Amino acid sequence: MKKSKLIRRLNWFYSIEKSQVDLYTAQSRKIDDIYLKKTMARVAVIEQQHVDNIASKIKKLGGKPTFIGDKVAPIAGKIAGKITGKTGVINILKTDIALEEKAMRDYKDFILESGLDENLFELLWSNLIDEDLHTSWFASKVAELKN
Ligand SMILES: [Fe+2]
Ligand SMILES: [Fe+2]
Repeated sequence: MKKSKLIRRLNWFYSIEKSQVDLYTAQSRKIDDIYLKKTMARVAVIEQQHVDNIASKIKKLGGKPTFIGDKVAPIAGKIAGKITGKTGVINILKTDIALEEKAMRDYKDFILESGLDENLFELLWSNLIDEDLHTSWFASKVAELKN
């Protein structure tokens, strides 16, 4: 893959990850359940690590990390006021799962591209697995709340 194309692809992930940091940080502030609040804050820290590892890869390639549009702003914007009650929490978790699944699909597609260097290959895999762990936790929480 040409360097310019690679940087463009990475900036997409940079943007998605940055959007997720903002989203989970906002949710952490608005959720009143302490366990969920702490979980969202912790997930936001992990998303920030993804932002940082992608940004450093872009810089190593000679590019500039660039935010190419907020993919989750419309969704995050819908969170008005405190998030309380089972239904409120289930709804945000379902949105989060959809976003995580989108990120996972994009990471998987990228991993399948040929000619990625070893370091990038490993980076994409580790971010992908983190997203999978987030998705599993969110999904099990939804199942628990529905009971
Ligand atoms: Fe992430
Ligand atoms: Fe994630």
